[in-house]
Amino acid sequence: MTETATARQEAPPERVSLEPSQDFVLTEHIEDMTARAMTYLEIGMAVHFAGPAGAGKTTLAFHLAARLGRPVVLMHGDDEFGSSDLVGRDTGFRRSKVVDNYISSVLRTEERVNSVWMENRLTTACQLGYTLIYDEFTRSRPEANNPLLTVLEERILNVPGMRRGGEGYLAVHPEFRAIFTSNPDEYAGVHRGQDALLDRMVTMQVGHFDRDTEVQIVASKTGLALEQTGYVVDLVRALRGASEAGNLPSIRAAFSIARVLVHRGASASPDDATFRWVCRDVLGSSISKLTPQGHSLPTSVVDDVVSRLYREATEHVTH
Ligand SMILES: Nc1ncnc2c1ncn2[C@@H]1O[C@H](COP(=O)(O)OP(=O)(O)O)[C@@H](O)[C@H]1O
Ligand SMILES: [Mg+2]
Repeated sequence: MTETATARQEAPPERVSLEPSQDFVLTEHIEDMTARAMTYLEIGMAVHFAGPAGAGKTTLAFHLAARLGRPVVLMHGDDEFGSSDLVGRDTGFRRSKVVDNYISSVLRTEERVNSVWMENRLTTACQLGYTLIYDEFTRSRPEANNPLLTVLEERILNVPGMRRGGEGYLAVHPEFRAIFTSNPDEYAGVHRGQDALLDRMVTMQVGHFDRDTEVQIVASKTGLALEQTGYVVDLVRALRGASEAGNLPSIRAAFSIARVLVHRGASASPDDATFRWVCRDVLGSSISKLTPQGHSLPTSVVDDVVSRLYREATEHVTH
């Protein structure tokens, strides 16, 4: 029997240092959002970017965190999150993998109970004064996010695991900062009870990019020529505007189409076979949402819609 090294210590929480990426597009609009958010952060307030998928919320959060220049701890909202996951547990399970060499196809995981103080992300960030990015925080159950209430309000973290140590709480480091993101389209579901938390942060609404920013971002990320990118972005935006929710397809659809065009050396035109099939695949479900029943559509219908939107978009651009 071979015991793997995982038994020794829990891995420290993920911590990242950020550097601005090469293809980051900084337009006036993004600069303005950044300046406002930085002001809040500088005076210790928590900032929350709320907006539809693909609006650039997460990227903005990383951009700000990079500007703050502190190490970053990243968390993602998750239905499974218990509040003990957020803070740590006083009695943790240490996992140790036991690999049975004799039955090599069997990998048994043995869990050993150990009273281990598992410091995790929130505790680390609070203790060491890191920047916390909590992405899509409304996906976690409201009670799981409760430890954040006192962190943001009184700058105190209740740590049940420290009970034996006496105090049971720790003062949050003065340089600790928190940046949140969420998508309001998701609030309607089960996680409505986040009002107390929302009340303790400044919520900045992030809408979809303006056309020129979207073109710049797609061109810089994919390497597609600006004019071609313009056609792709206009097509995606026309479809977004036509859909009921108004939020899909996002900029990600434009990335996908542009990447395929670059990869295949194809052209953004309905006469191009590659363009037709990639539009069918990437935009087909959004186009079918335009039908009353939301049924999938025959390829010829999708092609027609793409051609029409393309014509409208290119006519619009040349005016
Ligand atoms: N300012 C920007 N410069 C370059 N790329 C960006 C910028 N903002 C967003 N993106 C890109 O657009 C896509 C969507 O942004 P993201 O931050 O993930 O949106 P959201 O979190 O709102 O869903 C990502 O691929 C991201 O890299
Ligand atoms: Mg995001």
